[in-house]
Amino acid sequence: SKHLLGIKDLTKKDIELILETANTFKDVINRPIKKVPSLRDITIANIFFENSTRTKLSFELAQKRLSADVVNFAASSSSVSKGETLIDTVNNILSMKVDMVVMRHPYPGAGVFLSKHIDAQIINAGDGAHEHPTQALLDAYSIKEKLGEVAGKKVVIVGDVLHSRVALSNILCLQKLGAEVMVCGPTTLIPKYIHTLGVKVEHNLMKALNWCDVANMLRIQLERQDIKYFPSLREYSMMYGLNKKILNSLDKEIVVMHPGPINRGVEITSDVADSKQSIILNQVENGVAIRMAVLYLLASQKS
Ligand code: CP
Repeated sequence: SKHLLGIKDLTKKDIELILETANTFKDVINRPIKKVPSLRDITIANIFFENSTRTKLSFELAQKRLSADVVNFAASSSSVSKGETLIDTVNNILSMKVDMVVMRHPYPGAGVFLSKHIDAQIINAGDGAHEHPTQALLDAYSIKEKLGEVAGKKVVIVGDVLHSRVALSNILCLQKLGAEVMVCGPTTLIPKYIHTLGVKVEHNLMKALNWCDVANMLRIQLERQDIKYFPSLREYSMMYGLNKKILNSLDKEIVVMHPGPINRGVEITSDVADSKQSIILNQVENGVAIRMAVLYLLASQKS
């Protein structure tokens, strides 16, 4: 496909090609000269209708490492605040001859909608609580890097699955690569459709952690919550927060992940987030190589 809208559109082979290509780019960005000319003729607009630190900066770095021309757009400081629509906004940006659009948007399906109305290639950088494909790809890459492979590994996604785009993309990506996936959290934060995805559901954190090889601790998305249905943050961290005492009580050494940003002391304590079992900053590092791979491969699929 000419776009990357979700993991749902990718085959196992597509994902493996992205991970292999990212491996090559990881070598490139660790060299003294980090830049390659691959996207010299490509202009990319990063348009963010929602805040971001990791995704926005790593896409921009990936684009610059590939020698693309880059423009950045944050909705909060743009004419969107004067009422300009999504399509008008993007068409105005495209009139400046932009080839690719990397978009984050609060509405699920915003990328699909845009891809039907404009000519440029679209990469979904997170659409509401729907998909965040490059996050899932960098997570799979990081698991493979740490454990040698993804196939056969047991991964539990803990916490606010209901409001998470990382969860759905991770579930789809890990399953395509042959991992076993479980979700764990309070009933109020596990979506009803989860049973259609073929994942295990566990409400007891200790049972989930004793089952897994990898625990991916999701952030509680207070900005998307209806607070009255939610266990209080104190209750949540008591029942589902990962701390060093719990980690040390497990039979085996599990790998700890978190997509960021972290609510320290809520879903994960600092002594776990900063421990040697945590690969949180490796995930961020790998995000640049994964995004270089996605951009590079899409640039060769223009039509
Ligand atoms: N993991 C992630 O998407 O982080 P940002 O929201 O900071 O981009």
